[in-house]
Amino acid sequence: MAGFLSPALREQIRAASDIVDVIGSYVPLKKNGANFTALCPFHKEKSPSFNVNPHKQIFHCFGCHKGGDVFTFVKDYENIGFMDAVRRLAERAKIPLEFENTPGAKESRHLKDQLLEIHEQLTQRWQNCLANEAAGQVARDYLAQRGVSAEAIKLFRIGAAPELWDDTVNWAHSKKFELDVVEQAGLIIRKEETGRYYDRFRGRLMFPICDEQGRVVGFSGRVLSGDEKTAKYVNSPETPIFTKSKIFFGLDKSKRAILDAGYAIICEGQLDLIACFMAGVQNMVAPQGTAFTDQHARIIKRYANEVVLCFDSDNAGQNAIVRSLDHLLAAELAVRVAVVPAPHDPDSFIKANGGEAFRTLVEGAEGFFDYLLKRLLATHDVATDKGRLEVLRAMAEALHKTGNSVLLDTHAQKTALRLGVAVDAVRKEFSKVKPQKAVARNDDGPDDDILAGEAEAEAPSPPSNNELHLLKILLLHEHLAGWAALHLDPNWVAHPLVRQIVVARLAACEQETWRSLAEFLDGMESPTLRSLITGAAADERPLPNPETQVADVVLKIRNQFLDREVAALTQQLSHPEAGDELRMQCLHEQQRLKQLKRSPLEPLQK
Ligand code: CTP
Ligand code: MN
Repeated sequence: MAGFLSPALREQIRAASDIVDVIGSYVPLKKNGANFTALCPFHKEKSPSFNVNPHKQIFHCFGCHKGGDVFTFVKDYENIGFMDAVRRLAERAKIPLEFENTPGAKESRHLKDQLLEIHEQLTQRWQNCLANEAAGQVARDYLAQRGVSAEAIKLFRIGAAPELWDDTVNWAHSKKFELDVVEQAGLIIRKEETGRYYDRFRGRLMFPICDEQGRVVGFSGRVLSGDEKTAKYVNSPETPIFTKSKIFFGLDKSKRAILDAGYAIICEGQLDLIACFMAGVQNMVAPQGTAFTDQHARIIKRYANEVVLCFDSDNAGQNAIVRSLDHLLAAELAVRVAVVPAPHDPDSFIKANGGEAFRTLVEGAEGFFDYLLKRLLATHDVATDKGRLEVLRAMAEALHKTGNSVLLDTHAQKTALRLGVAVDAVRKEFSKVKPQKAVARNDDGPDDDILAGEAEAEAPSPPSNNELHLLKILLLHEHLAGWAALHLDPNWVAHPLVRQIVVARLAACEQETWRSLAEFLDGMESPTLRSLITGAAADERPLPNPETQVADVVLKIRNQFLDREVAALTQQLSHPEAGDELRMQCLHEQQRLKQLKRSPLEPLQK
């Protein structure tokens, strides 16, 4: 990650990124007293337990315990690294990142802004052509014949590109866009020999492709003539703002529905998705064509834990289902498959059978491995040894990728049944295939999930109420933290993670580096630590007499510590090999500790 982010700049970005505004732009927030609530975007739930606190500038979910500040939210929600989250918020607040202010970086930002502007303007131009111009007549007729509603045309901003070689070129001229920039946008092409430009999209129905924020970053154009010689679809090439492997058609409009449903339906094409939208099934995305990447899978994982693949019934579509497995498993997504009967794709299926039938089909989608077994049986001759072996091997390889032995066993049984062989033989064959875990995700930063896993493995049990109480006091009352720094020895705290937080909190006090809870959160690498902090801070129960309470809770924590020490000495005393001298020492020490327990809290000697 290039560049150094100074604390001052980070705080400037934070100050310009109100947590309610930022989170509110991703999920609908409802005011609830002094706070805001929503359905948690990080886990599936029916009633809102996700809490945003504008005063503390933190969020916390009482359901899944995820919590943090505005940077953590963007990082976790977008599934990106910390620096990318900073970059995104800086961009939103229009704060230039000084280390990105090299002439090169400025230029590239300027170019991207221009490309976005051109795409937006051209979308409007093609929408207008479809709606009002004679050149849009063929496209209008086509949409009517395919039954695309006016509402869908408006929502998806469908347009028409006139059947001309220089319509976009002339339009760009009139709009004073530089042609070489429009070329970089992938919208016009320069002829080598003559140096003249011509349009990429001619006589086509135009589908704008949007990024997750709804900005148009590319186009897909469907042919309108029955001309067999030209490709059915022409798409934008890769440009500085358009990376096909990272973009889903429809996601900007389907995010909420995916969160609500808890799963995403994946179909192949734009018209499939639009037909489903019109039929009321909106938790859907289209990777456009059949190339499904692991980046695609990771994007989905931000919204749901499960996908239902609903590709075309043709061979290309069915093979694509099998190919996408690796990527989906690597992102730890559960996979089901809905098969539209041949010769349909989702669009034609809905036309023929209605939206309700489609919904039923998707809801009844079978697990991936049931689908795979069926597909293998249909494509292999299991009357032959060769056919049976191939089915066995393909099932085993796919199952091993999950690393799940229950799945492996269940499907060993199913496979045996379908092949008419003994289960034990199948199990034996399955075990011969080398486990081959699906490709791991390649993050650019440290993997929080792994860190979280480790921290959780270390944490013996949840913190005690006293420890949580202490955290709350220290995090919410600056002057009491100062008092605690003088009276509380962090070693008294039993819970290792709480102790870690207390150490950091008291150090911030002593070094006078504490500025805000949100900033403190940023210093915490592990999500488990963050969740403990936001959990304690989000506890809205009032704290009457915090001054008395802090002394009280510190005293309790000290005494529990002393009790544990005394108990440890008792353990030593009971050791058969303890000599007399050691025994005496232990007894003296126990006396001292017990006396200490009866004495009031004193300032620590440091
Ligand atoms: N596609 C593409 N380039 C092609 C063909 C297809 O990018 N030459 C992508 C498009 O995004 C298309 C999807 O693959 O939507 C599925 O292709 P296909 O099933 O052939 O098209 P449909 O979406 O079914 O379009 P239609 O119903 O109009 O035939
Ligand atoms: Mn189709």
